[in-house]
Amino acid sequence: MLKVDGLNKLFGRNKAVDDLTLEVDRPQFVGIIGRSGAGKSTFLRMVNRLTDASSGTLTFEGRDILALSGGEKRAWQSDCAMIFQQFNLVPRMDVVSNVLHGTLNERSTLATMFNIYPQADIYRAIDILERLGIAENAAKRAEALSGGQQQRVAIARALMQDPKMILADEPIASLDPMNAQIVMDALRRIHEEDGRMIIANLHTLDTARRYCDRIIGMRDGRKVFDGTAEQLTLGVARDIYGADASFTEEATSTDMATLKKEYA
Ligand SMILES: Nc1ncnc2c1ncn2[C@@H]1O[C@H](COP(=O)(O)OP(=O)(O)OP(=O)(O)O)[C@@H](O)[C@H]1O
Ligand SMILES: [Mg+2]
Repeated sequence: MLKVDGLNKLFGRNKAVDDLTLEVDRPQFVGIIGRSGAGKSTFLRMVNRLTDASSGTLTFEGRDILALSGGEKRAWQSDCAMIFQQFNLVPRMDVVSNVLHGTLNERSTLATMFNIYPQADIYRAIDILERLGIAENAAKRAEALSGGQQQRVAIARALMQDPKMILADEPIASLDPMNAQIVMDALRRIHEEDGRMIIANLHTLDTARRYCDRIIGMRDGRKVFDGTAEQLTLGVARDIYGADASFTEEATSTDMATLKKEYA
């Protein structure tokens, strides 16, 4: 499926992603963890072609993703839907229209200009909202919803594209614990029920351990861990987050406390 080989991204002399090699050979739920600046977002952005790689290869089902351009590149971008920390909805637009935006790539300019959507798409959008438990908000403006609800609208918009994979960049970083759980549960369910690959950058270890089949740890652009939650011991966590700094980062230190208890 997804194959990354010797992938690099340079910003000037700074190596944001450094010789990254990994393979996801079935639709797993992959979590990427690491300190701020480790290269997590840059990696997802290269997969989605929002950022060009400096060197290396990236293939999906045998296709050279880095070589795509024009319409093929746009089609790929809708095959790997992105979800962001800040939801990226159109705040004043109603929820259904936000979800229908997920079909934007497939529609003619004229249809887009006049906001015309096929009836079948509208029904499908409402079905997806229902699946995510927020159909009763369909007619509300996106900005009137809570953060957790808005992120579920963003997930619905992603599903509207019927993506081959979902790339989530810190999807719960702006949410309170209860909404964070609702959103992660929704992603997990989509993964299990639809068999969709999900790659999520997560800023807490606990979340990655709870929801992901596989966890990749990045440090200074490099992959320093690739394994299951069980394999992610305190020593490994220290390696990913750094022995010193890890205890000063609030989100991480809570996780460290949990891990310490577990491995005590
Ligand atoms: N557009 C850019 N221009 C220059 N440098 C960049 C750019 N984007 C990212 N970087 C640098 O690349 C490195 C990796 O950044 P990236 O955003 O991928 O990290 P991250 O792991 O997602 O961090 P965070 O947890 O804070 O989101 C950092 O050193 C960052 O400063
Ligand atoms: Mg990031």
